[in-house]
Amino acid sequence: MSQISSTRTIPVTGRIPRHVAIIMDGNGRWATQRKLPRTAGHVRGVQAVRRAVEACGHRGVEYLTLFAFSSENWRRPAQEVSLLMRLFVRTLEREVDKLVAQGVRLRIVGDLGAFDAKLRRLIDEAEQRTEQQSTLTLTIAANYGGRWDILQAMQALLKAHPEMAEHPEQLDEDALNPWLAMAYAPEPDLFIRTGGEQRISNFLIWQLAYTELYFTDCYWPDFGAAQIDQAFAWYADRERRFGRTSEQLRTPT
Ligand code: IPE
Ligand code: IPE
Ligand code: MG
Repeated sequence: MSQISSTRTIPVTGRIPRHVAIIMDGNGRWATQRKLPRTAGHVRGVQAVRRAVEACGHRGVEYLTLFAFSSENWRRPAQEVSLLMRLFVRTLEREVDKLVAQGVRLRIVGDLGAFDAKLRRLIDEAEQRTEQQSTLTLTIAANYGGRWDILQAMQALLKAHPEMAEHPEQLDEDALNPWLAMAYAPEPDLFIRTGGEQRISNFLIWQLAYTELYFTDCYWPDFGAAQIDQAFAWYADRERRFGRTSEQLRTPT
């Protein structure tokens, strides 16, 4: 499937974002505030994932992408990393039936080779079992980094087309896009980061070129349908110009 590039074609956009990408941040602080171990925040965060999937499905979102573990999160204490992996395994084991019932197709993107064999097998099975669903595509970014994505896409492109190394002028967005980890999805319309930080933290750096960026202080375990509605109301008020002027938008030529 070919992806429409926001820098090459002006996308048609509506009041409801077609693709929502979320950095689920603030689990640790949510827990610390309650004098709980950070890991308790991650456990609670899974409930917020369920709420987000349901709310987005009901509102007609087609693609929901959640940043679960960054390529830099390995730098955390070993105990926290291993809890996060166990939580990932447990959630995959428990939630797939529910996803099928909700019409959710699950995709996992990231450098999955770093995960153990059991987790990789569960990922494969979950993707296969939800493959035919079409209401909402839920993508979990795990061991994902935006720079990794661009580099792996370049490597895959050159492997498939070694002649391109001799003709670098042929390298353009249309050549690279199909090799990006999320080539099956349009670029995100709305980016949400919970937890109060205003940074991208190596998320979908290529794909966020023209995405509307929304930041909220709400910690991820507290995020739910009401917060999604707030973000969507904010989004509906944006004027997405894609380089044009406001006047051009009011009087299309
Ligand atoms: C996000 O919450 C979850 C992951 C990165 C896995 P954090 O764990 O980053 O929570 P804070 O930012 O420390 O509060
Ligand atoms: C980004 O959150 C990654 C995920 C939510 C998975 P971090 O908490 O790791 O980001 P930084 O380190 O504060 O930038
Ligand atoms: Mg954080």
